[in-house]
Amino acid sequence: MADTLTITDNRTGKQYDVPVEDGVIRTTDLRQIKSGPEDPGLMTYDPAFMNTASCRSAITFIDGDKGILEYRGYPIEQLAEHSSYLETAYLILNGELPTEAQLTSWTAETTQHTMLHEYVKKLMEGFRYDAHPMGVFLSTVGAFSTFYPEAKNIFDEPARKKQIRRLIAKVPTIAAYAFRHSTGWPYNQPDNDLSFTGNFLNMLFRMTELKYKPDPVLERALDVLFILHVDHEQNCSTSAMRGIGSSHVDPYSAMAGAAAALYGPLHGGANEAVLRMLNEIGHVDKVPAFIKRVKAGEGRLMGFGHRIYKSYDPRAKIIKRTADEVFEVTGKNPLLEIALELERIALQDDYFVSRKLYPNVDFYSGLIYQAMKFPVTMFPVLFAIPRTAGWIAQWEEMILDSEQKISRPRQIYTGSARRDYVPVAKRS
Ligand code: CMC
Repeated sequence: MADTLTITDNRTGKQYDVPVEDGVIRTTDLRQIKSGPEDPGLMTYDPAFMNTASCRSAITFIDGDKGILEYRGYPIEQLAEHSSYLETAYLILNGELPTEAQLTSWTAETTQHTMLHEYVKKLMEGFRYDAHPMGVFLSTVGAFSTFYPEAKNIFDEPARKKQIRRLIAKVPTIAAYAFRHSTGWPYNQPDNDLSFTGNFLNMLFRMTELKYKPDPVLERALDVLFILHVDHEQNCSTSAMRGIGSSHVDPYSAMAGAAAALYGPLHGGANEAVLRMLNEIGHVDKVPAFIKRVKAGEGRLMGFGHRIYKSYDPRAKIIKRTADEVFEVTGKNPLLEIALELERIALQDDYFVSRKLYPNVDFYSGLIYQAMKFPVTMFPVLFAIPRTAGWIAQWEEMILDSEQKISRPRQIYTGSARRDYVPVAKRS
């Protein structure tokens, strides 16, 4: 028997067969269901897209119940152990792991594009001395469209690929300049002898030394964190990237919008909230009282719970291991003890167990970033650098997908019925 769904409209008694393909029905197939000649047809109502697939995607697979995350079919655990951020970015963007020759030329190409135009630097210098680095980051990405006007030729493959390389290569430079701006230190030029994350650390932290030597453990830890943050299918910022990009605007303008979505505390800002929470708790002895307050509905256990993962977030497991390696170099973050105790208690408590609330990616990442001397304002920027690869891969997949059109949801109108205009003198 064919895969169909039979719907009976109890308003009319009519029956409809709707095809089911890949476990979904097309909502446009419901438009034929009408209660009468005036009815435009049935729609679905799905605020926050809780149960609506907006695209077909071959990039990232998540099984939230089993705690599985795969990029192009490769488990995140294997990539975190064996791959590098640049190789993973190549995989996400091109669908396959690069050959040795491809990796060499991709690394060279992305390294060549790390410098910023002097006018971009001037633009960044114009921000207030205490500007939030994420505000500087997203504004500068948007301004790139004025520096590279050929980026609007989104269907010209060589031009498109050039913007992609530029974005991957330049976001760490923008991020580092935004950080140096907020500290009042001079901007550091990129050093192309270093690895992607080694160079990023150089642009952030080099002071008077002539050659910056990144600590290999911290360099690798940052690379692993970047791999973990590359993509996460149709999350808020990625949906923003696709939604804005569906108007066929250039990728810089679309990505400025995606970065803005990431700036919000419910998305890229959660690890900052975790640190605030740990500071507020202050001591392991106060953990049981804090858990009690959360269970009474007085606030949330930040860094716990996820819309998709209903088991341990696989990224959190890797981050916990990475934290141990980082703390060997930097010394333990004093807040770690509180975090471990929170996790220990929450994982045994029926409130959290029954709601399937487990640590997510943000529970330990803030502790690592803080130990590496990043201010909390840099946390969303650190998320945006690797997510750039995911955003662009999803954007490119969308513009090349013949089924996609300009993004345009429907609504249920709840306002006034038609009424006539009243001149101001006659309004009571
Ligand atoms: N602490 C305590 N209770 C919680 C928490 C939490 N962190 N998260 C969910 N709950 C409870 C919630 O009160 C509700 O209980 P009840 O059924 O009794 O009303 C139940 O669990 C379901 O919660 P929900 O709000 O319907 O779940 P959601 O899928 O809409 O929210 C979430 C997902 C991530 C926004 C939420 O779990 C949360 O606010 N967590 C804390 C913030 C956080 O860590 N965010 C980072 C997310 S991962 C990074 C990213 O992907 O961007």
